[in-house]
Amino acid sequence: MIFTYGCQMNYSDTERMETYIEALGFKKTNQEDDADFVIFNTCSIRKKAEDRALGKAAKLTKSKYKGRDILIAVTGCMARISSSKYSEKRDKLFNTIKELDIVFKINELQKLAGLIREINPDSEIKEIPEESLEHYFQIDPTYSTSSENQAFLPISMGCDKFCTYCIVPYSRGREQSRPMDEILKEAQQLVKDGFKEITLIGQTVNSYGLSVHDKLNKKFDYITEGKEPFVVLLEKIDKLKDDGLERVRWTSSHPKDMSDQLIDAMAQLETQMPYLHLPVQAGDDTLLKRMNRTYTTEKYRTIIKKLRKKIPGISITTDIIVGFSDESEEEFKNTCEFFKEMQFEHAFLAQYSERSGTFASKKLNDNIPWEVKRERWHTLNDILRVSSKDILSRFVGQTIKVLFEYQEDDSILGRSEHFKTVRIKKTPETLKLIGQIVPIKIISSREWELFGEV
Ligand code: 5AD
Ligand code: SF4
Repeated sequence: MIFTYGCQMNYSDTERMETYIEALGFKKTNQEDDADFVIFNTCSIRKKAEDRALGKAAKLTKSKYKGRDILIAVTGCMARISSSKYSEKRDKLFNTIKELDIVFKINELQKLAGLIREINPDSEIKEIPEESLEHYFQIDPTYSTSSENQAFLPISMGCDKFCTYCIVPYSRGREQSRPMDEILKEAQQLVKDGFKEITLIGQTVNSYGLSVHDKLNKKFDYITEGKEPFVVLLEKIDKLKDDGLERVRWTSSHPKDMSDQLIDAMAQLETQMPYLHLPVQAGDDTLLKRMNRTYTTEKYRTIIKKLRKKIPGISITTDIIVGFSDESEEEFKNTCEFFKEMQFEHAFLAQYSERSGTFASKKLNDNIPWEVKRERWHTLNDILRVSSKDILSRFVGQTIKVLFEYQEDDSILGRSEHFKTVRIKKTPETLKLIGQIVPIKIISSREWELFGEV
């Protein structure tokens, strides 16, 4: 059994891990009480995320004390050294979680079999030679965490941006892009299997092919005509529309790499959706500088203006951190004003959480009291609730295309092209719409979603 925490990348990793673990001879279970091998695929973006995984692991290790024979492993962003409890050089996590058996880095997944044998030399797991797997991206995923018609496809890993608050460049390592033909092959297979929507994922997907590692290894030197590798990738994936692909999204992105040619490609390619998640993090220039975001509010504003001009009605969502080191009342006020000005349709609002090892943890102070962080979070959230409701109401009366993905008690739910959640009443007829793109007349808007009928 695998417990997955954090971002889409972790869920996508879990889908590849499942294939590998099944190849070792394990059978998947979702019943905690049945499991004899439990993996925690962890996230360390904020302390809260770490605590959630650690809390669950602690509970399970207690059951181990009670005599249950269960193997416990940790991977994901909290894992630093692939090791077993018997290894000479062990990960620090062994000091924190009692009875932990294995820690493995996700990009060293091929070492897992060896680590299991280190714990249990008589284990009957199958042989998969480490050399047979160059990179875990080459494993076919189970797509168990995707919906039937929408899949996540990783195109890069790691991050080179080094925002001062962020642990990702340390936990996930340097940015490396996946070869384009490998991505296209996977995309082709997805379309063949009936997937209508693909979301390309990575930490900053719009720097695809531009990282130091990619350049040093001349990975994308074959691309000429001054085109960016990411734009070439989007163009090639767009061609799959002839085979049934309808929608392509990508996340997450960085304003630094939001080039004109990328905006043009978004506007021109049929499979590109009128939607973009573009994290701004703060709406104050000094604060952005302390965060090492490498752009100003003016630069961000210019990008948004271009996007709105070329793609009228585009929905833009963002990420914001409140309570970062030394954040003054004035700086926070600027963020609120900028937030309103940009008319974000949705946002992930986070309270700053100091992460050991980052520049901020070494050189800046985590000096905003938690009550103030919380208050600022609520202030921004109130602004967001009002703007989101306002913006959603613009769809009322319109007929929009929705890809239905799943059902709840009395409704079926899907996403519009603008990535809005749309709910319609569940009937034997509407139930058949799951997996299809259907025009829906929007009757009303709620705080975070739209309600409509066929
Ligand atoms: N504290 C709070 N939020 C953070 N994020 C990244 N690092 C931290 C941190 N130390 C947020 C950013 C990023 C999102 C994935 O998580 O907003 O865009
Ligand atoms: Fe972290 Fe910044 Fe990289 Fe995003 S761009 S993963 S916030 S370092």
